Amino acid sequence: MSVPEKIQARWSSRWVFILAATGSAVGLGNIWKFPYMAGKNGGGVFVLVYLACIALVGLPILMTEIMIGRKGRGSPVNAVRKLIRESGASRAWEFIGWSGMLAGALILSYYSVIAGWTMAYTVKTVTGQLAGLPPDQVSGQFEAFVSDPKQVLVWHTAFMLMTSGVLARGLEHGLEKAVKFLMPSLLLLMLGLLSYAITNADFSAGVNFLFAPDFEKAIEPGVLVSAIGHAFFTLSIAMGAMMIYGAYLPDQTPIFGAAAIVVVADTLVALCAGLIIFPIVFANGLEPAEGPGLIFQTLPTAFAQMPGGVFWGTLFFVLLLLAAWTSAISLLEPAVSWALERFHLGRSMTSWLLGGVVWLVGVLTVMSFSDWAFEFSFLGITKENGIFDMIDILTSIIMLPVGGILIALFAGWVLKREMIEELLGLPHDSLYRIWRVAVRYVAPVGVAIVMITSLFA
Ligand code: PHE
Repeated sequence: MSVPEKIQARWSSRWVFILAATGSAVGLGNIWKFPYMAGKNGGGVFVLVYLACIALVGLPILMTEIMIGRKGRGSPVNAVRKLIRESGASRAWEFIGWSGMLAGALILSYYSVIAGWTMAYTVKTVTGQLAGLPPDQVSGQFEAFVSDPKQVLVWHTAFMLMTSGVLARGLEHGLEKAVKFLMPSLLLLMLGLLSYAITNADFSAGVNFLFAPDFEKAIEPGVLVSAIGHAFFTLSIAMGAMMIYGAYLPDQTPIFGAAAIVVVADTLVALCAGLIIFPIVFANGLEPAEGPGLIFQTLPTAFAQMPGGVFWGTLFFVLLLLAAWTSAISLLEPAVSWALERFHLGRSMTSWLLGGVVWLVGVLTVMSFSDWAFEFSFLGITKENGIFDMIDILTSIIMLPVGGILIALFAGWVLKREMIEELLGLPHDSLYRIWRVAVRYVAPVGVAIVMITSLFA
């Protein structure tokens, strides 16, 4: 079991790490998935359940991942390998690293397709192609667009080029530069859109939809499953992303503080996204639709008919695109860092090659939405049972929760106490104890129960 050289590169400060980790966490999950889940699953009660999952399961595992990365100073696979060696544990724990890296690359394959839709919608909105169209035509355009593989392929390709392009330039000139520029832009766009939603749209209806508690819905088992699953996804947990970002973290940075900031920022963005989307939807007399339809059909319909819709619509899609971009780079970096250690092909070559592989897998998702689905049905690609759903289920429902449980158990039961205490640098002993109870018992047991009940639900 050979372990390559330690990673020498570091973020230039703890703030850059916080920007990058927040950039990873804030993505399509916050803006596209969360608002609808909250509105649909019991409003305020769901938000509370979700916050509890984030605090009890999400934050402790996030801290653990960052810690493993920093202690191991390698790609997820090698960081875990090094800790296994130091604590004399079984090699089976390596699974954590492999599964994270693979889940990240698989998720990116479809994430890029949806980010590609976002690019296409930025262009459609800014050029006024949707302005003034009635609702059925806006919806019809979306359906025609996603089932036209040629168009979607172009955008998917463009997005993967943007992602590999950043990775190819390395930590300092690629990732750091990107997040330093993109994250403040994202914040500005968000504040602009929020002020519009507060002053010009139906803000109180939005607040109501997002926060009014509906106790009956919120106690359904499915809701808890979605809340935990989403907590993992939105915090970029169990995909190696936070491990590799942790591997670049300077030595003295307190992990608890940094992780807490990331969690709070991620949650605020998700809530703000809801407070932007729903007021605009309701002010235009529309009903929020489910899933992709909310962002790519309902919302564009609202932009098509409201005054200033071209402007605000463009801001919105650019916001979504930037959020997706900073997440995408963190989805591929774990695999890039591993391949660099393994094959020594140089960063640029490695990034482009791996980007190419992910691009190819993404083509299957493109096809699964398209009319080509029928021609390729022998490969199991059909519209009803598409590759997209398969990858989504495999990653979000199986790999992420299992990976999360294992990370928690590894840190809670296998790693030596001194190692962890020194590394986490928790300010109080009681905080350390809480963390330990969380990773030893609360997170693994909680996630396992939820997974098992979901199998029978
Ligand atoms: N957290 C991102 C989101 O909410 C998705 C993501 C997962 C990004 C894992 C990187 C790693 O969209």
